[in-house]
Amino acid sequence: MNDSNGGMIKNSLEALHLKSNDKLLELGHGNGKHINLILEKGDNISYYGLDISPLMSEEARRHCQENGFSTQTEFSTYDGLKMPYPDQSFDKILTVNTLYFWDQPEEMFKEIRRVLKPNGIATITFVDEETMKQQAFTEFGFTKYNKEKFELLCKSNQFEIVELTPITEQIKSHLFQDISRRYWIASVNPKGES
Ligand SMILES: C[S@@+](CC[C@H](N)C(=O)[O-])C[C@H]1O[C@@H](n2cnc3c(N)ncnc32)[C@H](O)[C@@H]1O
Repeated sequence: MNDSNGGMIKNSLEALHLKSNDKLLELGHGNGKHINLILEKGDNISYYGLDISPLMSEEARRHCQENGFSTQTEFSTYDGLKMPYPDQSFDKILTVNTLYFWDQPEEMFKEIRRVLKPNGIATITFVDEETMKQQAFTEFGFTKYNKEKFELLCKSNQFEIVELTPITEQIKSHLFQDISRRYWIASVNPKGES
């Protein structure tokens, strides 16, 4: 985990309300150093990590092996579109700091809808566009969202926003400057499922 994303991940886990026996899919887990926090949320949680990067997948798998989490965790890679799971596989889905890289968000929402169990919840956490504009590295290759754009995205993909929480925190930028970062934690479910 990028250290500066620790707060985003912890707060996203609170919003996810994980409980014992939940089957969780995380999209874009990165190095996986936060997975212990997930497994601590209840007994017998099954964690499935899916990333487009074989390097991140390997790093997270190794981290889990070295820390004794192998039996509760499984890692896969994919093309960023078709998720390698049967329909209605997961109670919950978590994704932090990946929305900007979804090339085809409508396909991602379709897949999230397909692999979620009925009444399942997905928590999507993203930095607000205004903050991202202050960070030069996001100029290219990042699709930026604010509250309104995210609401529109959910609406056009027939997802209902159950909760949308803004959080502002002070962090060090990648250039070690103090910046105020605003992000959103959204809990969504396919319309007609709640
Ligand atoms: C900025 S990192 C965020 C890592 C971690 N979630 C965090 O917040 O610190 C983005 C991660 O998402 C992965 N990624 C990008 N697009 C993705 C997609 N469509 N589906 C799944 N993973 C994706 C990248 O390979 C990388 O591991």
